[in-house]
Amino acid sequence: MSTADTETSDTVVHPRRGGPREALLEVTDLVKHYPVKEYNGLFPANKSVRAVDGVSFDVAPGETLGLVGESGCGKTTTGRLVTRLLEPTSGSIKFDGQEIGHAKERALRPLRRDMQLIFQDPYQSLNPRQTVNTIISTPLEIHNLVPKDKRKARVQELLELVGLNPEHINRYPNEFSGGQRQRIGIARALAVEPRLIVADEPVSALDVSIQAQVMNLLEKLRRELNLAFVFVAHDLGVVRHFCDRVAVMYLGKIMEVGDREDIYEAPQHPYTQALLSAAPDLNVVRGAEPKERIRLEGDVPSPINPPSGCRFRTRCWKAQEICSQEEPVLQIKTGAREGHSIACHFPEIKDDLTATLEDTPV
Ligand SMILES: Nc1ncnc2c1ncn2[C@@H]1O[C@H](COP(=O)(O)OP(=O)(O)OP(=O)(O)O)[C@@H](O)[C@H]1O
Ligand code: SF4
Ligand SMILES: [Mg+2]
Repeated sequence: MSTADTETSDTVVHPRRGGPREALLEVTDLVKHYPVKEYNGLFPANKSVRAVDGVSFDVAPGETLGLVGESGCGKTTTGRLVTRLLEPTSGSIKFDGQEIGHAKERALRPLRRDMQLIFQDPYQSLNPRQTVNTIISTPLEIHNLVPKDKRKARVQELLELVGLNPEHINRYPNEFSGGQRQRIGIARALAVEPRLIVADEPVSALDVSIQAQVMNLLEKLRRELNLAFVFVAHDLGVVRHFCDRVAVMYLGKIMEVGDREDIYEAPQHPYTQALLSAAPDLNVVRGAEPKERIRLEGDVPSPINPPSGCRFRTRCWKAQEICSQEEPVLQIKTGAREGHSIACHFPEIKDDLTATLEDTPV
């Protein structure tokens, strides 16, 4: 994992994974500001919404990075930037070593196959007037992947892969349940055999009982197809068993990033600790006393005018004078392992917030 102030080369050294590894996706100092021309009921005129404000991370082939944070912190914008549905204001996005941050549509076309998005809302992301066959075979056609006479068989194969009945190929989205529709969205993304999937809260619109099934499906596909994921989620509970690494975002910046064990068992940033404490399924191990609770006071400040110094300071119980004067750099701190970076002047390990990874059921 490279960060703005640690490493930015194509090869990322990670000793615990056995030396240098290749980065499939490498993002450096990514910025997306939205100018507000006139007052829109939310933001004042002639200012900029700093949706993503200098974010750096990378993802190795087959690796899953969780992007977690409260509503409005810039997760969706980051996902849309890296898949180049949006163009960044500044910063670099490299996919497989190729700079794509400001690439034109023509140059991006071949890469569109390698990077796919799975959307939050399975109800809105499928065209209700198209059959499942059309929905899934369209990308096969666009990318000229399968001859016309073999497309139907390929669509049926994909339906089977995501746990749907291949005989339902001529049905319409409204003939499926929410979980099944999300499976159709997943099959559509897999049709082009991508190497990276950006999944933007793919289970948050589903019933809790269905969420685990879809997560298990994604986990199975990830393993079998060696897919890399950027997995966006509101809370740390959802990504716990799915992600190799987790980046915690707040107001357009990464506050802490590290391996799963670093984030869940030795979090050092107060914001990560608050998020962990707020995730109910991480706090209550069956039959045990609930762990310590940290309650965050106040609202997230406006992304138009973020607080000086540390953006989290207006809600941080540990804030001191320096926190308003100097922005803490995202870097490895004393006691943190390689690849575990924290943007805080006063990091401190808190290892009693959640049950250990082995304690909690999937
Ligand atoms: N097109 C736009 N124009 C202006 N501001 C925008 C635009 N899109 C997003 N924003 C603002 O950018 C910030 C980040 O939005 P984004 O959708 O990336 O957040 P998010 O973390 O995905 O939130 P959620 O968890 O609610 O989905 C928010 O303050 C949002 O209001
Ligand atoms: S830098 Fe200061 S305000 Fe920011 S998280 Fe650390 S202690 Fe809190
Ligand atoms: Mg979002």
